[in-house]
Amino acid sequence: MADVAKLQVGDQKLELPIIEGSEQELGLDISTLRGQSGLVTLDEGYVNTGSTTSGITYLDGEKGILRYRGYPIEELAENCDFVEVTYLLIYGELPSEEQLKDFRNSIRSHTMLHEDMRSFYDGFPFDAHPMAILSSVVSALSTFYQDSLDPRDPEQVERTIFRLIAKLPTIAAYSYKKSIGQPFIYPQNDLSYCENFLQMMFAVPSEPFHVDPDFVKALNLLLIVHADHEQNCSTSTVRMVGSADANLYASISAGISALWGPLHGGANEACVSMLERIIEDGGDVTKYVNMAKDKTSGFRLMGFGHRVYKNFDPRAVIIKKACDTLLAKLDLQDPIFEVAQKLEEVALNDPYFVERKLYPNVDFYSGVIYRAIGIPVQMFTVLFAIGRLPGWVAHWKEMHESPTKRICRPRQIYTGELKRDFVPLEKRG
Ligand code: SDX
Repeated sequence: MADVAKLQVGDQKLELPIIEGSEQELGLDISTLRGQSGLVTLDEGYVNTGSTTSGITYLDGEKGILRYRGYPIEELAENCDFVEVTYLLIYGELPSEEQLKDFRNSIRSHTMLHEDMRSFYDGFPFDAHPMAILSSVVSALSTFYQDSLDPRDPEQVERTIFRLIAKLPTIAAYSYKKSIGQPFIYPQNDLSYCENFLQMMFAVPSEPFHVDPDFVKALNLLLIVHADHEQNCSTSTVRMVGSADANLYASISAGISALWGPLHGGANEACVSMLERIIEDGGDVTKYVNMAKDKTSGFRLMGFGHRVYKNFDPRAVIIKKACDTLLAKLDLQDPIFEVAQKLEEVALNDPYFVERKLYPNVDFYSGVIYRAIGIPVQMFTVLFAIGRLPGWVAHWKEMHESPTKRICRPRQIYTGELKRDFVPLEKRG
């Protein structure tokens, strides 16, 4: 493949370098385009535009491949727990026994919130969406740690990373307890990361609590498959905000807000609501597949389709298998899982979906497992955020460690009014 692209603009001949990634992906480097020609590129939604090079996650949408730091997601889901994968994403290598032990201890010592933060929850209405609480409280963390906000000080960044990974489950569990009027449950640092989250979510002070190992296993798997996904909307948001040298708490809070969108991480909550609507409406999945094909309906199959995957989302395959295992173990028949499988079968045999290569994505089956564990639907996207945190942190850190880091500031093509004279108020129509 040529290592330059030739571009003819009027009578000007340009040459633009083509760069090749470690998986032989090719990219047209346009960093000199405007300087040479005055031209900028236009690409709504960045469908064809790479924002950076990155060594964290590789995905091949055509082949349905996903790897974190070179390791296939299937092997990580099978052999690791979430904290181990968190270490891999952030530091680039699978940890040794010693490294993993130190990492777990570093996280454990930061699981509690400052007691003054508890009063934040009194200010929210009981039915506040937990994603609004999560982004607010994460941003507010920066006010309690004003001594360690410098994005250029590796020691302060490291401490902030430990604090965020340790505290996100606590912040999340407190938002759930607030919504059901139960007392907040403190973290128990003798428990594993996922055990601790489940006990903060479901324990009550009045009786002993047993953490179900099947739930812990299922939660670890879900968090691992959500942990990173290269330049998705929320990760790009974290990079964008971080590029201005905003502190890591502010950057992560912005990422949480982007993830909340129903076209992105909010799709898991929207997908279960859609499946419940289909069940309440008699379970006629064909009716809803037809609605999704009708552009005037404004209806989409939530949990279906993906900007990059034009094949099965490998995470959906892993989660669907875990659904089967968990429901069988719990001897649970979840009508949501039944109708989801029927919907998948009808959609994947319909030309509209086949032609557009629309397959179930990570959000299509995740809700089934969350429900089996007892997670309320409003908390689904919060779980996505807990899972995605290591990916956000890894990308923010990679950007700050890059010698070519610059503030993100895209260009535009102006299509507004031409220059015109000011009209005083008394002369306006
Ligand atoms: C996540 O980027 C990531 O990596 C995200 C994520 C991650 O890990 O970070 O993977 C997590 O966000 C997964 C996606 C969750 N969102 C949903 O499930 C919402 C439903 N899906 C879509 O709205 C849509 O598929 C997107 C947003 C996911 C992708 O949108 P694109 O790439 O902009 O595709 P598009 O909207 O341009 O659709 C292309 C065509 C259109 O039809 P035509 O104009 O060609 O006729 O496919 C149609 C769309 O109408 N289409 C759908 C559809 N998704 C796309 N039609 C019906 N149902 C759907 N779900």
